[in-house]
Amino acid sequence: MIGIKDSPEILVVGSFVKDLIVSTNRFPKVGETVLGCGFQTASGGKGANQAIQAARLGAHVTMVGKVGDDIYGKEMIDSCVESGIDCRKVMIDQDAPSAIGNVQLQVDKEGKTQNRIIVVPGANMTITKKELRFLEKEIKNYDMVLIQFEIPMEINEFVIECAERNGVPVMLNPAPSAPLSDSIMSKLTYMSPNEHEAADITGVTIRHDGANVNKDDVKAVINALLDRGVKNVLITLGTAGAAFGNENEFFICPSIQNTKAVDPTGAGDSFVGAFATLVSMGIDHEKSVRIANYVGALTVSKMGAQPSLPWVENVNDLIRERNDIELLNWRKS
Ligand code: RIB
Repeated sequence: MIGIKDSPEILVVGSFVKDLIVSTNRFPKVGETVLGCGFQTASGGKGANQAIQAARLGAHVTMVGKVGDDIYGKEMIDSCVESGIDCRKVMIDQDAPSAIGNVQLQVDKEGKTQNRIIVVPGANMTITKKELRFLEKEIKNYDMVLIQFEIPMEINEFVIECAERNGVPVMLNPAPSAPLSDSIMSKLTYMSPNEHEAADITGVTIRHDGANVNKDDVKAVINALLDRGVKNVLITLGTAGAAFGNENEFFICPSIQNTKAVDPTGAGDSFVGAFATLVSMGIDHEKSVRIANYVGALTVSKMGAQPSLPWVENVNDLIRERNDIELLNWRKS
């Protein structure tokens, strides 16, 4: 049962990644070299990004993960602490380096942006179950647990099982794609793949016609995941918005139109972090998806993952600007 709280307690067990972002007008072909047009670094990692988004919308967030004993590790912890996240359980590996993300950002002549990311996971992959034993006692203090697939799978399984034993809802963002057992799926309260991850898991590809998606395909994907035991499914559909389904509900909420698209990196994470926070605040599924769409649109409008994640007031400003009356005052900023 999800609690109703102004500031829910959210636990993220996940990754820290320092993104090294190269901008180019055209991705190179295999074996080709192209000249880029920009370079910058930003703190990222799916776990830390989702944690920061939740904190910036008003959740009390605890982050558990690992960085290397290096400057990137320090910067990534600082980035979380600056957003108010409790990082006392973040570990520092003396041997493995902090993870880096090779982010290639293509901005073509029409201004369309796309990215490709290779993560070298470094210290994220050295987390052990022994180091997380404390969760067996402490996980019950949280309203929601968020996990992704950038840390060892046995750690994800341990956290999911621990949460289930204590009746704490888990939201899994299965990214990057990885095989998933039915026993794990049946323990998930929420699962939020993007359409490509959903196709990898279910074998069903969602067809698009411009910004419209084929509803039957979306339903088929959601039903396939519900059949495997997931209780609620949320699928991000890029420019088509997001779909939600469970035993009783099914809807698709279109994305927010006419916003600037500068860099899509972190948009999925901001959506997931926002949705988890909003439902933990007691906001219904449909409103949560609609508000999370605003959060995602704001994230895309700026460069870099964590620097682009919006705060409550930024989200409220955009909702007000669009005169989306039903969503006004979802939370006082
Ligand atoms: O989802 C975006 C994130 O994926 C980036 O910040 C990168 O670090 C990778 O983990």
